[in-house]
Amino acid sequence: MFYQVFEKKTLITHRLKLKTSWVVLNNQQVSLTQTLRLQKMLHPLILSDIKKLVSAILDKSVPQTKKEHYLGVIHTHFQKLTQITGFETKIAYLAAIPTAKGKALGLNHAAQCLLDHKRTIKFLDAIIQAIQEKQRTYPDECITLFYAGCGPYAPLMTLVAPFFDPKEVQFSVLEINKYSLESAKKLINSLELSAYIKEYYLADAVTFQVPNATAFHILISETLDALLYRECYVPILFNLLPQFDKNTTLIPKNVQISLSLSTNKVAITRNKEVVLATIMDVQETILTYPDHRNTPAHLPDKKIDLTSLDIDKYDAFLLDTKVHIYNDIWLYRNESSLTLPMTLPLVHPFQKKSIIFTYYIAYDIGLKCRFE
Ligand SMILES: C[S@@+](CC[C@H](N)C(=O)[O-])C[C@H]1O[C@@H](n2cnc3c(N)ncnc32)[C@H](O)[C@@H]1O
Repeated sequence: MFYQVFEKKTLITHRLKLKTSWVVLNNQQVSLTQTLRLQKMLHPLILSDIKKLVSAILDKSVPQTKKEHYLGVIHTHFQKLTQITGFETKIAYLAAIPTAKGKALGLNHAAQCLLDHKRTIKFLDAIIQAIQEKQRTYPDECITLFYAGCGPYAPLMTLVAPFFDPKEVQFSVLEINKYSLESAKKLINSLELSAYIKEYYLADAVTFQVPNATAFHILISETLDALLYRECYVPILFNLLPQFDKNTTLIPKNVQISLSLSTNKVAITRNKEVVLATIMDVQETILTYPDHRNTPAHLPDKKIDLTSLDIDKYDAFLLDTKVHIYNDIWLYRNESSLTLPMTLPLVHPFQKKSIIFTYYIAYDIGLKCRFE
């Protein structure tokens, strides 16, 4: 008997759980500088304003609430330029897009990712740091980034490019959803960022052959959800990593899923928890496939022996997703929709000897488990 660890509905709920920060024109919190106050919110922001907002967002001394508010200001501006709010009811904007393996998030949910605040902040921090590190390593080169899955706002390009000169960084942008790609292009043109773009591709990153792939310094693909459910991060890596140079920096670098026992069916901090095992480490697993191009239908089973555990003391299994973005930048439990924990309640008396996890990469992507 297999259990799908995540239900379809759950994913949608996760994405909708994102807090939205709306900009209220008379909100006293709008205080980055006097120049960025109400007047700027009524008139288009210019690139230097976006750079100021992102600098404040990345400044460790700025309180989180303010950072979230500044992201809201950026979101409002992007909405005006693209006419995409992330909350439209058009079917074309709601629908997930089938890929060769797994599904790409619908346009609305992809737009809302901008407001997954800690996620966006940490990714921006990571990408700017990664570019600066590459500049130190390759001082005479223009740093090139391949961005697979840009969504309608391409925030990991539009909010990063203003920190550099187009002679210093160039992006190739790929997206499977034509409405998202159209919106990203419109935004990039409106923000006058086209000089930073090398190429646009409307394509499936699970199968796409990247022209001159070894020339790229950085590969970005935030195409994942908690428990690596349904989205394409793993098959995208199986396809893209062998094409790129081994020194290409991948962002996010890795995803790990761990299994714990918990004294509570709800994942809260005062639970007593004991970590049993890492049931998935994407980098480690992919490295075990010498010919990654033949993406397997599933990854090897991970069996955890339960016989030596005092399982009666616990009420649930707990599955945690940790995202290693870059260097010491990680997303931990509950910091983002990507790291929401999942509990599997235990029914006592519990008499199973082991729990076995299998990650499927065939059409329905996801982690399944069974007991023996
Ligand atoms: C989670 S959203 C992230 C959007 C944006 N990069 C951000 O950080 O806010 C993932 C995006 O990747 C795209 N995507 C997912 N799988 C893809 C695939 N196989 N090929 C191309 N694009 C894909 C989705 O359509 C979606 O726009």
